[in-house]
Amino acid sequence: MKYRNLGHSGLKVSEIALGSWLTYGESTEKQTAIECIDEAYNLGVNFFDTANVYNRGQAELVVGEALKKYPRDSYVLATKVYFPMSDGPNDRGLSRKHIMEQCDASLKRLGVDYVDLYQCHRYDENAPLEETLRALDDLAAQGKILYAGVSEWSAAQITHAKAIEDKRNLRPIVSNQPIYNMLVRYIEKEVIPTSEANGMGQIVFSPLAQGILTGKYKPGQQAPADSRAANEKINRFIKGYLNDDVLNGVQKLDNIAKSIDANLAQLAIAWILRQPNVSSAIVGASKVSQVRENVKAVDVELTDDVMKEIDVVLKEIDGFVPAW
Ligand SMILES: NC(=O)c1ccc[n+]([C@@H]2O[C@H](COP(=O)([O-])OP(=O)(O)OC[C@H]3O[C@@H](n4cnc5c(N)ncnc54)[C@H](OP(=O)(O)O)[C@@H]3O)[C@@H](O)[C@H]2O)c1
Repeated sequence: MKYRNLGHSGLKVSEIALGSWLTYGESTEKQTAIECIDEAYNLGVNFFDTANVYNRGQAELVVGEALKKYPRDSYVLATKVYFPMSDGPNDRGLSRKHIMEQCDASLKRLGVDYVDLYQCHRYDENAPLEETLRALDDLAAQGKILYAGVSEWSAAQITHAKAIEDKRNLRPIVSNQPIYNMLVRYIEKEVIPTSEANGMGQIVFSPLAQGILTGKYKPGQQAPADSRAANEKINRFIKGYLNDDVLNGVQKLDNIAKSIDANLAQLAIAWILRQPNVSSAIVGASKVSQVRENVKAVDVELTDDVMKEIDVVLKEIDGFVPAW
C-alpha cells in the first residue's frame, strides 16, 4: 500500500480507502462485510469511510464491530453528518444541535472515543456556515474529532468556508469528498484547483462508477445476478449509467487495461490516483476478492501513451454519461 497526506494536513491515509455505502450493514452479509474490512486492513488500507445515514446507522455499527479488534491508532476512521436521520425537523442538516448530537451518536455506534475525520455530507443552505464551522472546531477542541472535511461542496462554498476559518481562526477543513471517476469529472475544473489552493485534498467516491468501470456490465446483456445493478434494493443510483453507448466505451477501456496486464478496476483507480490533489480513492466492495484486486491499483503505472489512449475513449463516451 502507499500513503498520502490528507490534503495539507499531517495525516497519512492509504491511497485506497474502503467505504460502506449500500454494502456493509445493508446488502452485504455481516460476516462478509467484516471479512472485506479485515482483508483491506491486512493489505495496508488504513482509511475507512462511513456515514451516519448509511442505512440509518447500520453501516457504522458493522464498521465499528469489524475495526474494534485493531489498535485505535492503526486506522483512520471517517464518518459524516447532514442527511436526515428521522422525520424530526432538527434531525438533519448542519446546525450546531444536529452536528453535536450526531457526532455523539456516531461515536456510540462505532464504539470509539473519537473519529479521525468528520465530514459535512453536503452543504446546508439552511444553517449559517459560521455556526457549522464553529461546531466542528468545538468538536475538535473536545477531542471527539481530529479533522473536519466536507463532501460535494462547490468551489464557491469551499472558498466561503475558508474565508470564515481565516477570519475566526478556526481549524482548517482538510478534505472534500466528491464523486470522481473516468465518467464523472466535473471537479477537475474548479473544485480541485480551489481545494489545492486552500490546502484541501479530495477523497473521491465511486471511483469505479459503482462497478461500471470493472467491465462486468456488458452492452446488450443483463447485469450479472450478484451485482449492484441486479439488486433492486440498491440499484437506483447505478441505473443511469447502464446505457450501451457508455458500456461499449467501457469495453474499450477494458482492452486498454488488458494491454498493460491490469484489470479495468485497477486501471480506473490508477487513473484517479494520477491526480496529486487526490489523497485517496474510496472504493466499495461486496466481496473479499474485490478488495484484493482493487488494492493492487496502487502499483499500476500509466504511461503518457496509455493516458492518450484512455483520453480518446473518454472523449467518445463523454456525451452519453448522465449528469451527476
Ligand atoms: N460522500 C458521498 O456522498 C458518497 C456517495 C457515494 C459513496 N460514498 C463513499 O464512497 C464509497 C464507494 O462508493 P461506491 O460503492 O459507489 O464505489 P465503487 O468502488 O465505484 O463501487 C463499488 C461497487 O462496485 C463493485 N465492485 C468493486 N470492486 C469490484 C471488482 N474488482 N470487480 C467487480 N465489481 C467490483 C461492487 O458492487 P457489486 O459487487 O455489488 O456489483 C462494489 O460494492 C462508499 O462506500 C462510501 O463510503 C460517498
